[in-house]
Amino acid sequence: IADVRDDIDHELVSTTQIHDKIAAVAARVSKDYRDHNILLVAVLKGAINTMAAFSQALSIPAQMDFMSISSYGSGTVSSGSITIRQDLSTDVKGRHVLIVEDIVDSGRTLDWLVKELKRRGAASVEVFALLEKPSRRETDVDVKYKGYDIPDEFVVGFGLDYDERFRNLDSIAVLKAEVYQGEQA
Ligand code: PRP
Ligand code: MN
Ligand code: MG
Repeated sequence: IADVRDDIDHELVSTTQIHDKIAAVAARVSKDYRDHNILLVAVLKGAINTMAAFSQALSIPAQMDFMSISSYGSGTVSSGSITIRQDLSTDVKGRHVLIVEDIVDSGRTLDWLVKELKRRGAASVEVFALLEKPSRRETDVDVKYKGYDIPDEFVVGFGLDYDERFRNLDSIAVLKAEVYQGEQA
């Protein structure tokens, strides 16, 4: 029987580390937004697990919406252009939005989304990203709530995919090199 861990080389962030960090950020956010009506916007598909865990770790009431955008396609290198696969159903005008992301790599996805939500009239736009690769940043988009900084390795799990696989892994991990073999970088 195939196991989701079969192609994992090593774990980078454990399930416990993920949930501890999410709880710490949720406590900060619950305090910072105690006087605001917060709207969480998760960036699908990668942020699905982070959104589920984070929203339940908040102590304040929170509304949630989802936008499916992609910059990567099936490979490990960002295509650089953003595609909206599915838009929000909420009007963000006048809302205090907190974007929930799994990872900031080049920062292009977030840079585009922050500008787009401000363009739509959001009262404020802040970002929570569970992971960040500082060495890969190409934009100066401000991430107010950060989880873990990680090295420039392609990671999967807790929502992050390689070619739509491994999103259901419960930790953040690096795949065996042979899994990527044949890909044109
Ligand atoms: C991944 C990841 C972030 C984005 C980060 O999404 O989930 O949203 O790339 O990269 P960037 O900082 O270079 O823009 P992807 O495009 O793979 O779509 P997915 O979330 O559906 O997997
Ligand atoms: Mn994504
Ligand atoms: Mg992806």
